[in-house]
Amino acid sequence: MTMTNRRLGRGVAIVGAGMSRFGAFPGQATRDLFVEAFQEMRASVDKGLDPRDIEALYVGNYSSDLFENQGHTAPIMADWVGLAPRPATRIEDACASSGVALRQGILAIASGLYDIVLVGGIEKMTDLPTERVTDTLATAGDAMYEIPAGFTFPGFYAAMATAYMARYGATAETFMQVGLKNHDNGALNDKAQFGARIADIMASKKARAEKKGWPVPAWSDEMEFLHDDRANPVIAWPMRLFDCSPISDGAAALLLVGEELAPSFSDVPLHIIGSGQASDVALHDRPELTALRAARLAAQQAYDMAGLTPADIQVAEVHDCFTVAEVIATEDLGFFEPGEGWHAAEEGRTALTGPRPVNTSGGLKSKGHPVGASGAGQVVEIWKQLRGQAGERQVPGATRGLSHNVGGTGQTCVVHLFERR
Ligand code: COA
Repeated sequence: MTMTNRRLGRGVAIVGAGMSRFGAFPGQATRDLFVEAFQEMRASVDKGLDPRDIEALYVGNYSSDLFENQGHTAPIMADWVGLAPRPATRIEDACASSGVALRQGILAIASGLYDIVLVGGIEKMTDLPTERVTDTLATAGDAMYEIPAGFTFPGFYAAMATAYMARYGATAETFMQVGLKNHDNGALNDKAQFGARIADIMASKKARAEKKGWPVPAWSDEMEFLHDDRANPVIAWPMRLFDCSPISDGAAALLLVGEELAPSFSDVPLHIIGSGQASDVALHDRPELTALRAARLAAQQAYDMAGLTPADIQVAEVHDCFTVAEVIATEDLGFFEPGEGWHAAEEGRTALTGPRPVNTSGGLKSKGHPVGASGAGQVVEIWKQLRGQAGERQVPGATRGLSHNVGGTGQTCVVHLFERR
């Protein structure tokens, strides 16, 4: 199936972007985090925003119902940022919820219905114990065929990882390199949940042991730490703790306007030049586990819309819910050939200073993964990168960026391309 040469009926630009910190925030509800993200977004609009001009809200949220016992979240978010009675719509597409909300916001403006739209992403996961979070996340798999067979999300991605290793020769160490790189990047991001290099985490664990009078671990380097079953336990082999994104709270907000209005809001707007979305059957029904068909299709649609190829993209935020997912994403997006992504990861080609920087924010692994907020959070990083505001993690001169957001095991994938002109 090809769906090429689709164009938006009207150009759309992002003129504001902001996010809360990602992390664990006991006592703060989703609405508090969304207000924080909204305020940062508002402050980022170069020429100012009167919130009364916003015409509609599309907010991505996976499961406030199960995580927070709060359904019907969109009007609450609209109320808390002063938007009622404007239409407020919640989008649920698992971990791709706010990437899809972005697409809905774009389509609403491109259709001519609205000129100014707010897109949000929200999730508050840390109020539940880990086993209930795991069960809640598992509802994004196939509850008839997969969950009764014992699958959890770490289990799904472990299956993809073992298939990838068997087919291409990657090892568990390959995936550790992805975690190391994303922790390095996250250490440069003050919004990141972990915000520390693995070497720093090791040092603080040693210091803690020394202070408590416990035996001090003798790891000589990061790889030794990552191989230590106590420090980095296996969650679902070969995925260990440091291969998994964490359980997180967070929110993000993006302001979209019709392209012709962008100069009255922003000195440096980001133009949406490509948007693609696709779906797939559940994992158990797929002919192969080493690529996500929906991601490949979504990427192709986005590149075709923009008239670009993967070589034209200078910075990308990809959905590394588990380290193996980043390797597969770099192949699905065409940055590397199938089977080449793991060599690229090992050789540092996706590092901040490498030729193909991926997940400069720290990615979901280090920045955090409040699932419904992650897609919009990725766009906040691209906003900063393309406007030259990414500080120590700036990719010099980047003018085109990509976001790749995956729901579940890839039953939903959405890819966007952005350009600073
Ligand atoms: N990476 C690195 N360290 C992590 C971590 C992660 N993903 N998650 C927790 N930690 C650390 C904590 O900071 C804590 O460190 P400390 O002892 O130095 O204070 C320690 O590990 C224990 O934390 P805890 O919250 O008790 O971990 P947990 O065992 O309850 O949860 C996982 C760990 C991996 C099971 C959990 O993060 C998880 O389920 N992740 C996957 C989430 C997911 O599937 N998302 C959807 C993807 S599609």
